[in-house]
Amino acid sequence: MSEFVRVARVGDIKPGSGKTVYLGATPVALFNVAGQYFAIHNSCPHEDGPLGEGTLCGCVVTCPVHAYEFDVTNGECLTESAYRVEQFEVRVEGDDILLRPSAEG
Ligand code: FES
Repeated sequence: MSEFVRVARVGDIKPGSGKTVYLGATPVALFNVAGQYFAIHNSCPHEDGPLGEGTLCGCVVTCPVHAYEFDVTNGECLTESAYRVEQFEVRVEGDDILLRPSAEG
């Protein structure tokens, strides 16, 4: 089973915002929803827009390219149900935010 990897520190991402971090070579969009962290793949499944640069409202991020909306808590696309983004498991240890690599990567 993959080990968790430190990708950011608590305080790097303010509540209601997100940031692109890297898990090895994989870009991940990490969000702070009212103090709880969620991570999904950074690439929008529509045309690879950077979801980590999207606007977060509640638990929904809006892709900055064509404004498709994704629930960051489960990776589901609210605009087009055929789309879904990969999720990553998040753990907070002290001041560190850690992610677990997916099985594929
Ligand atoms: S690239 Fe994200 S909505 Fe088109």
